[in-house]
Amino acid sequence: MKLTEDEIARVCRLVDELAGIQWDASKTYLIESRLPSLLRDHKCNDLTDLVSKVRANLNPQIRADFVDAITTRETLFFRDESPFEALRHKALPEIIDAKSKSTWARRLRFWSAACSSGQEPYSLGIVLRELIDDIDDWDVQILATDLSKAALASASKGVYSDFEMSRGIDPRRRDKYFRKVEGGWKICDEVRSMVSFSERNLLQPFTNIGPFDVIFCRNVAIYFDVPVKKDLFNRLAGVLTQNGALFVGSSESLIAFGERWKPLHHCRGIFYQPNRENLGPVASVAATSTVRPSTPLSTVRPVTNTALPRKPVMPPVAPAAVNRFAPAKPVATVPRPAASPVSTIKR
Ligand SMILES: C[S@@+](CC[C@H](N)C(=O)[O-])C[C@H]1O[C@@H](n2cnc3c(N)ncnc32)[C@H](O)[C@@H]1O
Repeated sequence: MKLTEDEIARVCRLVDELAGIQWDASKTYLIESRLPSLLRDHKCNDLTDLVSKVRANLNPQIRADFVDAITTRETLFFRDESPFEALRHKALPEIIDAKSKSTWARRLRFWSAACSSGQEPYSLGIVLRELIDDIDDWDVQILATDLSKAALASASKGVYSDFEMSRGIDPRRRDKYFRKVEGGWKICDEVRSMVSFSERNLLQPFTNIGPFDVIFCRNVAIYFDVPVKKDLFNRLAGVLTQNGALFVGSSESLIAFGERWKPLHHCRGIFYQPNRENLGPVASVAATSTVRPSTPLSTVRPVTNTALPRKPVMPPVAPAAVNRFAPAKPVATVPRPAASPVSTIKR
């Protein structure tokens, strides 16, 4: 495939506009390896033609295939381990203690904000089941979102090959939380039902979402430029509860964003809490925001899971728990049990 400078520039611009992912001429090998099949499948004469067709969006399938092609969806169960240890031993016990006297003592909201093929949100579900004995009496919801439809389809199915299982799932967990099916191992209904999947572009406003006790936004901001990254983390602060925790990838850090974020450590694991006094007024966040409301990709589209019954939608969250930037609209779909002591946590 012989590429012109102009073609490379057009593709990189589109990749940035649609996903915020930064490509330049050094990523020509990605264009050469990932896009030729799209040219064939969608009968495009060349890359310029492909870019025009994606932009025109007359056939949404071209855009979806383009997004699937440009996203890197590498992931594994319990990736990096230490964040899950920090979650289990520090972040969650503290969050649960902090809300133990509130009306919402037994409600937990998680967001896996770039969930890829689902290993991250299912790892969160497993941690919760292992940490809280009577988890089924709790009102727990893990929202898992991604930009890639291919990633979401595979995540929603929840079936993993032997190779994928070997990356993070030991035999004990495999036998407890998965069952053998044709083509691999399927996540059990108890964990699957804790997770709901939606299509969501992190560049777009977080409308009708949150607040969350825990956000995992890992290994996605590494693809964004600094202003977009900074803006993304600002907006994530806006959808965290008062004692909420943000986990980022092991090669990522919020230290560069100054005092806005407070790092908390547990052994090798690290997570962040927003410094509420340093958040600044809503207006200043909005004024400097790089969100792209006019990007014509859809923002929230639930992935239908026909295997599981739909659960009723929750009432709005308690005002005390609502962050001032977050719309008071829950993502929960699990019925809320009455509040009771939180003595069932394994420490
Ligand atoms: C490398 S994977 C990370 C998966 C998981 N969080 C982990 O750490 O293992 C990056 C994911 O980010 C998604 N992604 C890229 N750009 C995005 C955007 N603008 N909005 C939402 N998701 C995006 C990709 O589709 C991909 O699934």
